[in-house]
Amino acid sequence: MIQAPRGTFDVLPQDAARRELVQAHASKVLGAAGYSRIETPAFEATELFARGVGEATDIVQKEMYTFDDGGGRSLTLRPEGTAPVCRAYIEHGMHKLAQPVKLWYLSSFFRSEAPQKGRYRQFWQVGAEAIGSSAPETDAELIVLLAELLGALAVHDTRLHLASLGTPETRARYREELTAYLHAHRDSLSPEVQGRMERNPMRAFDSGDPSTRETMKSAPKLLDRLTGEDAEHFRQVRALLDDAGIGYELDPTLVRGLDYYTRTVFEFSSDALGAQSGVGGGGRYDRLIEQLDGPPTPASGWAAGVERMLLAADEQPLAPALVDVFIALAAPGAARTAFELSRWARRAGLSAQLELAGRSLKGQLKHADRIGARYVAIVGDPGSASLKDMESGEQLELGLSAVIPAILRGSRLA
Ligand code: HAM
Repeated sequence: MIQAPRGTFDVLPQDAARRELVQAHASKVLGAAGYSRIETPAFEATELFARGVGEATDIVQKEMYTFDDGGGRSLTLRPEGTAPVCRAYIEHGMHKLAQPVKLWYLSSFFRSEAPQKGRYRQFWQVGAEAIGSSAPETDAELIVLLAELLGALAVHDTRLHLASLGTPETRARYREELTAYLHAHRDSLSPEVQGRMERNPMRAFDSGDPSTRETMKSAPKLLDRLTGEDAEHFRQVRALLDDAGIGYELDPTLVRGLDYYTRTVFEFSSDALGAQSGVGGGGRYDRLIEQLDGPPTPASGWAAGVERMLLAADEQPLAPALVDVFIALAAPGAARTAFELSRWARRAGLSAQLELAGRSLKGQLKHADRIGARYVAIVGDPGSASLKDMESGEQLELGLSAVIPAILRGSRLA
């Protein structure tokens, strides 16, 4: 039997309604702040992610679905949305528009990771990117918007982790300082941390080893090494969040899995999720557009996982789909009339379903009840019909042409 590939899933009708709600809330929250929808291709030139996301990242090193297009070009299923949106910004000369250009997306992304709860190989993200502004207000506004979206979706008990990375130059200097610190305290670090301290010294902060944790408490922190302007930018972002009543934890060791970040970085996590606790995150990426051969352009953004938001959300009662009228057949000869009636009903703005499975009249009424139809129009001999009010159980003989007006009036049929 052929099954869906490992790490992928079908969105079945019973899941679709909640996902549509995510889209509706995202559109409302982001639309109200001036964000317009963008959709980019599902695959891009591999080089876009190698240069954009970073050669050394896990995503580029081991998680990309890369293939040859048959003409010797290397393509990759998009593992994230920021580099593609920046590519589109440059390609369409959006720097000529009023800045910042605010864009949002709801798309699927692909990463070849080990599947587990909340981690898939094809997953969906809602993302927002504000390109062309370096203002701390942009970062704060983006964070507020993500908090609003999570609130609207009843994703509670989230924690906001916040940090600033400064510039790549600050980070390079800090990295040397941290590596030197790790060398000096080598003996109190776990073998694992020792093994990767040259390649990835920041990971030492994540270690669960007690002696390493103790040692890292006194290690130099990047947040204390920010230059004047970077520190001031971060101070302003924090002040705006304080004013907005958004709580956060300063997390000097917050590591994001993408190389393009500068200055502000953040992540919302939820304990409801277990190991994959990141619901959504992002930050500023002031160098990315230039790195992709565009004009120097500051930018900031985030993305949140649709599946993780739904996993962490309270169950919300969903309004059942409305069926105004189910059109039942009392006689086989009435099929064409019933078909016509269903078209009239929909043209009149009603939601109407037609009997399509050859059920008995009793079976049709049972089915209409199951799908929650408000009325059943029973079509009999040419021109005759009756309308049953499924709430009161009353049934009225009507001429065919009177059926739709009767439903529209919502008339009591007594
Ligand atoms: P990211 O942190 O890699 O950031 O992904 C954002 C969110 O996507 C995560 O917080 C998580 O909810 C979801 N996610 C990531 N990987 C998976 C997976 N394998 N299965 C299910 N959900 C997943 C980015 O992608 C950046 N582009 C965000 C950004 C936008 N930064 C600036 N602008």
